[in-house]
Amino acid sequence: MKWAIIGTWRMAIEGVTESAVDLNNGAFAGDAIEKAIKIVEDFPYYKSVGYGGLPNENCQVELDAAYMDGDSLSIGAIGGITDFKNPISIVKKLSENTYNCFLVGPGAEVYAAREGFQRENMLTDRAKKYYKKRKNETLDKGLSPYEGHDTVGVICVDKNGKMVAGTSTSGLFMKNKGRVGDSPISGSGFYVDSEVGGAAATGLGEDIMKGCVSYEIVRLMKEGLTPQEAADKAVYELDSKLIRRRGKAGDISVVALNNKGEYGVATNSEGFSFSVAVEDEEPTVYTCNKMKDGKTIYEIASKEWLKAYADRIKAPLTFD
Ligand code: GLY
Repeated sequence: MKWAIIGTWRMAIEGVTESAVDLNNGAFAGDAIEKAIKIVEDFPYYKSVGYGGLPNENCQVELDAAYMDGDSLSIGAIGGITDFKNPISIVKKLSENTYNCFLVGPGAEVYAAREGFQRENMLTDRAKKYYKKRKNETLDKGLSPYEGHDTVGVICVDKNGKMVAGTSTSGLFMKNKGRVGDSPISGSGFYVDSEVGGAAATGLGEDIMKGCVSYEIVRLMKEGLTPQEAADKAVYELDSKLIRRRGKAGDISVVALNNKGEYGVATNSEGFSFSVAVEDEEPTVYTCNKMKDGKTIYEIASKEWLKAYADRIKAPLTFD
């Protein structure tokens, strides 16, 4: 069967690229997902995932993550874990449990310590500087703290047709202590069924959860829609419903993949990018246009876009 792996945002490309080599050599989708997401978690300049993720209102980095096996439908999830290095590895292990497979806060930390996962202070000096600046801005100008969040969500199908989904995030910058977003919530931040396909979401968790958008995409694919049609329809309908009922919709972006290695994406916001590799398609970053008339258009990221991205994430901070 044809293998494929797709992840939210440009930040997934290094992991997607490495896992693509493994998948081509016959690797298990779960190992490919874990490797791809660990690479994002370990990179200190990605400020919304793992090490270097931006902290909550108390300047603590609280991480959410999930892993789902599309054959057995087993799920492992954690919410608000602090001081552990690779949440994706913890949730992969948790997915082996029949009970107690979604743990939060101190309970998740006790489990991770017992299982021998590596402890690490996930707060970097760079993240602390962002926190200090945002705190001062919020106090001075009353700015909303709820900006700047992106989850890495990855869906994979391996050569044996096995599908797996994984997510990892530090959630919303300056979130309340204990706030958990969509990323560890089955059906919202992710869902996968090897008989159909999978999807993962990024954006404002509070709004993504109102539509269980990842489950909805898989449901639509089961009805016969392509991943692109399913992603567009689910995001468009949720966005329209939120605007109709509540006057506005937060950012919602998704990646979707079926068990034939076909993929699709959708976004209701500006600036969404994604990373994908398929057996017959080199690892590539694409940038998306905001959905128009219910359709999302994307194109290969230009050299200029990629350079600007690389310069931006590592740019020295101009504030103390
Ligand atoms: N989508 C990530 C979050 O809302 O926490």
